[in-house]
Amino acid sequence: MVSYKSLGLVNTKELFRKAVDGGYALPAYNFNNMEQLQAIIQACVETRSPVILQVSSGARKYANQTMLRYMAQGAVEYAKELGYAIPIVLHLDHGDTFELCKDCIDSGFSSIMIDGSHHPYDKNVELTRQVVEYAHSREDYVTVEGELGVLAGIEDDVVAEKSHYTQPEEVIDFVEKTGVDSLAISIGTSHGANKFTPEQCTRNEEGILIPPPLRFDILTEIEKQLPGFPIVLHGSSSVPIEYVSTINKFGGDLKDAVGIPEEQLRKASKSAVCKINIDSDGRLAMTAAIRQVLAEQPGVFDPRKYLGTGRSTLKELYMHKNNNVLGSAGKA
Ligand code: G3H
Ligand code: 13P
Ligand code: ZN
Repeated sequence: MVSYKSLGLVNTKELFRKAVDGGYALPAYNFNNMEQLQAIIQACVETRSPVILQVSSGARKYANQTMLRYMAQGAVEYAKELGYAIPIVLHLDHGDTFELCKDCIDSGFSSIMIDGSHHPYDKNVELTRQVVEYAHSREDYVTVEGELGVLAGIEDDVVAEKSHYTQPEEVIDFVEKTGVDSLAISIGTSHGANKFTPEQCTRNEEGILIPPPLRFDILTEIEKQLPGFPIVLHGSSSVPIEYVSTINKFGGDLKDAVGIPEEQLRKASKSAVCKINIDSDGRLAMTAAIRQVLAEQPGVFDPRKYLGTGRSTLKELYMHKNNNVLGSAGKA
């Protein structure tokens, strides 16, 4: 049993309270390898932003869970070495079973998501409640994020039926019955780099896809039901056109990629949305940079050359998010 406090990590309780009161959102960035983690820490230290480091089950399989846990501990020390001890949360992204959540809690995670959103409502409540009971009974309180409403995007049918959006009339009951510390909701975001079909979008004069707006009416209704309660947005990459173009210019083949416009995320950050999940944009930034180096410098075979360029590009991306989209810069 490892206490997250002994690793220098914090849970989300106080950070979310400040973010809701201050009208900004915390960045929740996924990492799977050292370069991604370095870029996140460098960017967040430089912008003086608190940060949530997210580990998915896929990341645990790819990089090994023990490696990732020690890397997060290393990140705490790295931030200090860079000159500023920003608050760092180690968070399980999309935990799907009690056993996985327990394993992460026991090995030093300070925050957990239990994603029961694909289950029927009662089963979601039961599973989430079970995780909350365990997480909150630890000597160091581990915070828990639940989810209500299903995000499109993993499914092929991105057209979210009404029932896929979070139903505001359910949120009070869910939060009361489960005891979660924050709630992920579905208002039109989705995972990946193709968040909407071209048919759901319009096109501007240059032919660029313009997605339909997020359902801010649902968010407002949820805020009315749960005043000041921390709300989370998944699937919030913006899929910047410049990365997609660079990837395609240097041999990639990404078709009809489209994300959530930054202005909408900026608007959401000023509401009770206090955690915004971004993974795909980091993947695109790194892939674009690496493809460009390898295409333009065919003699390069030292991974530090292309991974290093990928890392610098990622850092710029995260600094931009903290400064201009989430509003978390200067809040550490
Ligand atoms: O929401 C999912 C995250 O982007 C993590 O993706 O399961 O491929 O690691 P992954
Ligand atoms: P994106 O695919 O939009 O980056 O979303 C990531 C996410 O929600 C991680 O939980
Ligand atoms: Zn997600």
